[in-house]
Amino acid sequence: MFAAKRATVAFNGLKALSSKTAMRSMASQAAGSMPGAFNAKKNANGNFTVTLIPGDGIGPEISESVVKIYKAAGVPIEWEPVSVTPVLKNGKIAIPDEALHSVKKNTVALKGPLATPVGKGHVSLNLTLRRTFNLYANVRPCRSVVGYKTPYDNVDTVLIRENTEGEYSGIEHEVVDGVVQSIKLITKDASDRCARYAFNYAKETGRNRVTAVHKANIMKLSDGLFLSSCQEVAREFPEIKFDDLMLDRACLQIVQDPSIFADTVMVMPNLYGDILSDMSAGLIGGLGLTPSGNIGRDASIFEAVHGTAPDIAGQDKANPTALLFSSVLMLRHMGLNQFADQIEKATLKVIADGKVLTGDLGGRSTNTEFTNAIISEL
Ligand SMILES: NC(=O)c1ccc[n+]([C@@H]2O[C@H](COP(=O)([O-])OP(=O)(O)OC[C@H]3O[C@@H](n4cnc5c(N)ncnc54)[C@H](O)[C@@H]3O)[C@@H](O)[C@H]2O)c1
Repeated sequence: MFAAKRATVAFNGLKALSSKTAMRSMASQAAGSMPGAFNAKKNANGNFTVTLIPGDGIGPEISESVVKIYKAAGVPIEWEPVSVTPVLKNGKIAIPDEALHSVKKNTVALKGPLATPVGKGHVSLNLTLRRTFNLYANVRPCRSVVGYKTPYDNVDTVLIRENTEGEYSGIEHEVVDGVVQSIKLITKDASDRCARYAFNYAKETGRNRVTAVHKANIMKLSDGLFLSSCQEVAREFPEIKFDDLMLDRACLQIVQDPSIFADTVMVMPNLYGDILSDMSAGLIGGLGLTPSGNIGRDASIFEAVHGTAPDIAGQDKANPTALLFSSVLMLRHMGLNQFADQIEKATLKVIADGKVLTGDLGGRSTNTEFTNAIISEL
């Protein structure tokens, strides 16, 4: 399903990496025939309905940019905005029913960042969404972008992060005063399905290798189980090479020479994926450029990797590219490839021109100016 023609269009604005790499679109990295493939129907107006969770901090500003760009591009989508501001349900903090019903019904959502209180307060709503919709795999592609100079011009990584358990299981308790325990939960089921998704993903997107990233030398049982699940699943995909790498080694190698990961899909437990994907984002110029998709069995939620950026919220300074590129992943997930190509190409052109850039990209333009520049390139 990842047609060469489409991929070539999508890559016009990207730095030449290798010809093989160039055949893969940055955002053509959505699930096709894999579990969680999009199969919703158009509504009576001939449009798909997509849940929009604007989120906190800069979320509403960057969501508004996406909505404006989609309107200008004529994307056949009707947004269904919902709030996920937590409510009290049976004495517990929960996501409002309206938001849950909307995502369940539409099976696809675009989500702005959500603030999580540190060390106290309610459980992370991001985690709650992931658990509620069983969003078992988080896909995070990072690729160098023309026009944005960074110390690296050869980054082309794909990370798949197990999204439901591991260090984020939220099982913590105080044993005695001054002693706390946090449980890292790893199950064979979750490891298997994440590994299987990674292999399918590699197959669909033309990568010929899957690399499991782990610390099974230290966490012999938990990471050991994750690794052995990957090894087992690898046998189902004889056409895809499989290897594994210690997390520390992976960090070292990725900053020394990211190009060695251009043919592989890295798959790893939750926390490692969180950290390594932010590191990869740093290599291509920061969080403002990095998209992600949370693939689940019953629904998929696409979101930027960055947070709510409270330091610049409400100042029209945010870069909407990460959310926009996440929406491009979403469009390809939905089979709306032509619109994905159009929006991606226009955005990359604006960045490559370097005249209208937000502060995080070294420019002085506002989010509004950047958004309007993309619209004029459509
Ligand atoms: N997926 C999510 O919803 C998500 C992810 C990460 C953090 N968070 C939450 O966001 C809040 C703030 O977290 P943080 O400060 O650690 O990380 P952050 O990503 O919000 O900000 C880190 C730095 O990057 C900058 N930045 C981030 N996105 C940007 C953008 N689009 N354009 C320009 N600059 C951008 C910020 O200004 C800041 O200087 C916390 O409550 C955290 O829990 C949410």
